[in-house]
Amino acid sequence: MKPKVLITRKIPQEIVEKISSVCDVDMWNEEEVPIPREVLEQKIVDVEGLFCLITEKIDADLLKKAKNLKVVSNMAVGYNNIDIEACRERGITVTNTPGVLTETTADLTFALLMATARRLIEASTYLRNGEWKTWSPMQLTGQDVYGATIGIIGMGRIGEAVARRAKAFDMNILYHNRNRKVDAEKTLGATYVELDELLKQSDFVVIMTPYTPETVNLISERELSLMKKTAVLINTARGGIVNEEALYNALKTGQIWAAGLDVFAIEPVSLDHPLLTLPNVVALPHIGSASIKTRLKMAELAADNLMKGVTNQRPDHVVV
Ligand code: DGY
Repeated sequence: MKPKVLITRKIPQEIVEKISSVCDVDMWNEEEVPIPREVLEQKIVDVEGLFCLITEKIDADLLKKAKNLKVVSNMAVGYNNIDIEACRERGITVTNTPGVLTETTADLTFALLMATARRLIEASTYLRNGEWKTWSPMQLTGQDVYGATIGIIGMGRIGEAVARRAKAFDMNILYHNRNRKVDAEKTLGATYVELDELLKQSDFVVIMTPYTPETVNLISERELSLMKKTAVLINTARGGIVNEEALYNALKTGQIWAAGLDVFAIEPVSLDHPLLTLPNVVALPHIGSASIKTRLKMAELAADNLMKGVTNQRPDHVVV
């Protein structure tokens, strides 16, 4: 008998077929609607493998219901949606999809940085609203990216990929990380600094750190108050790393200049969220890894992890 697995969202057919060659697949057949919690609770009971997304909360209560679960395969590099300790206690393997989304996420991070610095969304809206009457000297002026100082918080794979892009823009690269990255220092000319120093010196502060209990509200009122008035904050990691109320106040009062956000504490962000009322916020719907090639690679990797997990082989990307 094939091991039973649940896929919590509609994924490309070729990947479903691949999984089906080894597993008995049950799939929530919606592309845009997450599986309802009660359906997940009911289906988790007898599956051996779960292929899930960051939209599913895999917590201790859910895991208690899972009688046969061997592997939770998250189609994401981040896994803050999963209670890792509860999985460890129950001997459930958790896997993620690192590596394949590094360059795509770094591209988006840099695109967001440039769009925020040069006010691209505001400028485009200005044109489409018929406000463009003439060319004028200081109209829609922004911040230079070329030659500016970038401070990267979290120098993992994606942080380094952002640093490579920054080097091509002749930026001065600062970073803060749990441990020193000697290779990045040598090859990219990146300089390690303490967090406060990074915040004080950077024109662009880019958050690339994982979301853990230690990084909840890492950037709050005190940290924002250290930043330059001309500084731009970019977050493509996880919304909860930045205290949104403090960020709103800092942007509103001119404590910092602008923010580019691909992530929010609660997603999808509510349309009446105060941050969305500000012209100096560029907001995106969590699309860091959203290129066709990369999403396919992520789904494929998550499928491989799942299939190995349910057939008692060690998956390539084990978190726990
Ligand atoms: C991840 O992989 O963690 C992203 O946030 C979703 O692509």
